[in-house]
Amino acid sequence: MKGVILAAGKGERLNPLTDDRPKVMLKVANKAIIDYLLENLHPFVDEFIIIVRYQKEKLMEYLGDEYKGKPVTYVEQVEGEGTAKAIYSAIEYIEDKEFLAVNGDIYFERDGIKDLLQAFRKSNADAALLVKEFKDLSHFGMIKVKGDLVEEVKEKPGAVSGYANLGAYLFKPEVFKFIENTSQSQRGEYEITDTINLMIKEGKKVTYAVYEGYWNDIGRPWNLLELNEYILKNHLRHSIRGIVEEGATVLPPVEIGEGTVIRSGVYIIGPVKIGKNSKIGPNCFIRPYTSIGDKCHIGNAVEIKNSIIMDHSNVPHLNYVGDSIIGENSNLGAGTITANLRHDNKNIKVEIKDKLEDSGRRKLGAIIGHNVKTGINVTIYPGRKIGSNSFVGPGVIVDKNIPSNVLVIT
Ligand code: TTP
Repeated sequence: MKGVILAAGKGERLNPLTDDRPKVMLKVANKAIIDYLLENLHPFVDEFIIIVRYQKEKLMEYLGDEYKGKPVTYVEQVEGEGTAKAIYSAIEYIEDKEFLAVNGDIYFERDGIKDLLQAFRKSNADAALLVKEFKDLSHFGMIKVKGDLVEEVKEKPGAVSGYANLGAYLFKPEVFKFIENTSQSQRGEYEITDTINLMIKEGKKVTYAVYEGYWNDIGRPWNLLELNEYILKNHLRHSIRGIVEEGATVLPPVEIGEGTVIRSGVYIIGPVKIGKNSKIGPNCFIRPYTSIGDKCHIGNAVEIKNSIIMDHSNVPHLNYVGDSIIGENSNLGAGTITANLRHDNKNIKVEIKDKLEDSGRRKLGAIIGHNVKTGINVTIYPGRKIGSNSFVGPGVIVDKNIPSNVLVIT
């Protein structure tokens, strides 16, 4: 069976982290989002078809042409926006058998695909969807079901409970004919959910599998932190491949990669994951749910908690980084501090595509892009973003988002 992975989207809601790369390449717990998905689909598929467009060269170079012995083929998305267009792009590569189509930006456990296949075969259906029950569906489309079959996919039903679409499907090749007849939605996209409604109207059997495990749709920056926490809590094995100097304390589970040195006076409380060839300490405090990538430097008198520090980044002197994300190759000046809590204890709001959105989190720090430099004593308000390739001069108080490629001085 072929596995089609949709990875052509711009991932704008994850700016500035997606300024220069597809969202599926972002690393969570030191591994790209798409790597988790490939691993998950691997037992079920004999070829991966990856639908690409935005920053496609980077993804193709990153993944190469095979994954654990199975071929990886890239297909450029046909003209037009939306998940239906993305799936349609695979038409030449799907012969006469059913195929899997999965959003590239979702995380779920392997059982999901097993359940989906079982439901499809049991009902002898024309298509199957993976769904999950949620108490509040205000952010999701609702799947109306009757017995084994889906009756309708309803967009934005409000705060009611029910099944939501998780973004993993099984289709027969006849789906392409229905995509050809799918109209553009109100937001100007061709949506696979509209195609599914069309199939149902024409009398096709669409079934569903209820998934009960953890799932995350990585659309917004705080989803990266949620996923990081989940993976470190549930999938981290204590393993020390680097050097831990005398006088350092490492409380399991902590994964430390080859070539990494943990200097004296460092205190690490797991779960924490640190990549290869990083230098940690002396004298810093790394608290649970922190991922630090390869070739990073975390220096003296630094405290980090619940954060993602991507490869080649430095947090070298007198910094506090809480509930934050720091992209690749960035450097915080001495005394740069992220604030992660409002004094009125309200949820932190973040500007997403020009609109302020409630993150649902009381604690959220900074979202810092790639190749960013901050000067000494920079103070970053909760939920603020610093765009990639920007330089924030000494003493700046970042109370508004800073765009990419700018120089900000007081
Ligand atoms: P979305 O998260 O809806 O879109 P996006 O990835 O472009 O993100 P944003 O809205 O922040 O800009 O996409 C869901 C999945 O479908 C995701 O894995 C990307 C993929 N996709 C495509 O492959 N082609 C497309 O045209 C769109 C819109 C999405």
